[in-house]
Amino acid sequence: MRLDHFAAEGSTVRVWGDTDVVLISVPLPGVLRLRLAPEARAGTYTFPKLPPKPSFALRPDAAAPEAVQVREAGAELVIQGGGLTCLLNRETGAWMVLDGDPQTGRVLAQAALWSGEVPNARDALDAEVFDLQRTRLTLDAPHGSAYLGFGERVGPIDKRGMHLTFWNTDCFPHHTDTDPLYVSVPFTTVVDTAGLAHGVFVDEPWRMEADVARRRPDALTFASAGPELDVYVLAGPRPADVLRRYADLTGYAPLPPLWALGAAQSRWGYKTADELRAIVAGYRERDLPLDALYVDIDYMDAYKVWTVDRHRFPDMKALVGEMLEQGVHLVPIVDPGVKAEPGYDVYDEALAGDHLVRTARGDVLVGEVWPDPAVFPDFTRPEVVAWWGSRHKLFAELGISGQWNDMNEPACFSLKQPRVTEGKTLPYDARHGNRPHIEVHNAYANGMSEASRAGYTQFSPHLRPWILTRAGYAGIQRHATVWTGDNTATWSHLALSLPMIGGLGLSGIPYAAADVAGFAGDTTGELMARWYQVAVGYPFLRNHAASGTADQEPWRFGEPFLNAIRTALHLRMQLLPHLYTLAHEATRSALPVMRPLVLHHAADPDALREDTQYLLGEGLLVAPVLRAAHTRRLVYLPAGSEWAEVFNLAEFGPVHAGGTYTVADAPLTVLPLYLKAGHAVPYTDAAPHTTAAQWPRLSWLAFAGADGFVGQLYEDAGSGPADAPSRLTRIVGEREGQSLTIRRESRGDLQGFEQRETLHLIGLKSVQSVQGAASHNYADGLLRLSLPAAWTEIRIEEGESGE
Ligand code: GLC
Repeated sequence: MRLDHFAAEGSTVRVWGDTDVVLISVPLPGVLRLRLAPEARAGTYTFPKLPPKPSFALRPDAAAPEAVQVREAGAELVIQGGGLTCLLNRETGAWMVLDGDPQTGRVLAQAALWSGEVPNARDALDAEVFDLQRTRLTLDAPHGSAYLGFGERVGPIDKRGMHLTFWNTDCFPHHTDTDPLYVSVPFTTVVDTAGLAHGVFVDEPWRMEADVARRRPDALTFASAGPELDVYVLAGPRPADVLRRYADLTGYAPLPPLWALGAAQSRWGYKTADELRAIVAGYRERDLPLDALYVDIDYMDAYKVWTVDRHRFPDMKALVGEMLEQGVHLVPIVDPGVKAEPGYDVYDEALAGDHLVRTARGDVLVGEVWPDPAVFPDFTRPEVVAWWGSRHKLFAELGISGQWNDMNEPACFSLKQPRVTEGKTLPYDARHGNRPHIEVHNAYANGMSEASRAGYTQFSPHLRPWILTRAGYAGIQRHATVWTGDNTATWSHLALSLPMIGGLGLSGIPYAAADVAGFAGDTTGELMARWYQVAVGYPFLRNHAASGTADQEPWRFGEPFLNAIRTALHLRMQLLPHLYTLAHEATRSALPVMRPLVLHHAADPDALREDTQYLLGEGLLVAPVLRAAHTRRLVYLPAGSEWAEVFNLAEFGPVHAGGTYTVADAPLTVLPLYLKAGHAVPYTDAAPHTTAAQWPRLSWLAFAGADGFVGQLYEDAGSGPADAPSRLTRIVGEREGQSLTIRRESRGDLQGFEQRETLHLIGLKSVQSVQGAASHNYADGLLRLSLPAAWTEIRIEEGESGE
């Protein structure tokens, strides 16, 4: 590949040869873009100028790109901007991106090869393993480096050794080795053996595959069915930096309403309003917290989207209001498939407005989903997104502000104009305007969920929308959060949920979760109890089951399981101040609520491989039991600091050194939790449901390490616009010799403080005196402090007390 020519054009450097073009720019500091267009001459482009390339992933409000400089150095072009350097060899096309300058910078990504012909004679080995490839990029995969993310995947957190397909798929049931699933995010964070990270994002919604050092242990290869590879290299040095840069590029998830983080119940098969009432009563009479009921397809009239069956749900508006009075939000499901029935207004409007996906021959494409026959709105076009958004008026007027978008891969069980498809979806050559389905399939759900968020924002500006989606592409986090689809009520799926949710978090989707106790198949009492414990830290917590499965509301298996589930649900409610603070942090940092250990311990190889535990924020480690009949488990505590046992937030045990394994005793009601030295976590009392995210009773659990500790709390009304009054509080404990000074600093315009606040402090060897607390008590290494209203400072002296 020879690239004889180059030109600097504004903030872009264009380089081209006889056939190939590459555009290099720096959209953000620390992010370098290479738009690789091999064989561009053979395409429809005005060679060597490339037409603008729209993206479903990038945030629309991007900042202006960084300035770039270019110079020649022998065969190499040296392109610099935003703190990065790209060296491009004009004789071979090989390129590398360095963090810093050409002499001292760390090599982030290095490509020996990018090409366009099919099959590729230059590297027959790769050509064999990819289906449908048209373009290909091979990056060095240095020995020992780990590959995180890639969207929704089975398998461990590190995807090295896997071959992944990007093709959103409704696969039922999926297994622990099924690929692909519903969400495609072609973004990975690469972590080297020293724990240094960088990111690679290939912004192509086209059907793609990635071979992650499987076929060739030294290569990460992307192959696309499209004509280009739009590559972003993101600097680290920590995984958290990569994630932040990815969100700077593709957007941050908006803050969820507090109620969406409370406990939720769902079932495919709740058929009437009275059944829903009975479920709520079942929760309330057993002292089980409940904040939301998800309402599945049974509420619709003949599966016609944007309708409500009048017999089974005679007054939906009254029901929504009645439920809200009990602290329960209804979240209806919405599917994209529109029943093809003349006279049904949604279908008539879709036809008249030319909003539907068409076949390659130009007819409206007709398939089958729940409605049969069904047609598909083309969410890849802005005018269709706007039309679908306007449809949300119906639900907004009912008082609804949460929605569950399903089947949006899109799923299609069969086609009326038969065609071969990959999975139960639309054929590659179906038409979206002038684009083939194979180009935009993965992004279909983004437009649907964008419409939902825009719709609720327009029609209920006083509420905060909560949008759930099954499918998505990069950038989906701006519109919706993801649940992991149709899992199974098995112990293997319980364990799988951790790396799946963790992997979604590492793909920029901070609030993903799995259906509690399993969707398909009959669950058991023990599996339910353990699943609820695992889900104490899921970003949201929804019990959901498939039609025809055994009942799985928390009380269905009696004792001792009900008690264990109640304990877990109360623990969830207690942790909401912390979870909500983490959710808020995600809107600024892109760090997920539930964090794989590698996020904060990238240089610790045991932490990197630990898929059975997770962190809630940096300071709280959750090590749930994931096996049948087990009441003990091995726990890894990452290196670098000490960890205190705080099981169920109530049972305080010994302090362990980091970098060690310990055995946790966890009978059925116990969730092993560990607090990291240097951290404080806010929590509250359990309640039947959430109200405002301002906590009348607030507790802190703090572990004073050698450098003291720090904790955070975010508070607001819990709903409503994100710019409504809020407050961010930090409590900071600083040690100086024998004394520990704890200060509270608050920023924000939210008025009023907690009515009752307490602090539980671990890490003091002894206590001589305490100043500034209303009362205190020190026993067994734990100092309990009652804090006066609006406190700002507390001083503690270590040493033997005279008391
Ligand atoms: C799909 C969804 C599932 C839902 C069912 C019926 O399988 O993934 O959650 O219950 O459809 O709507």
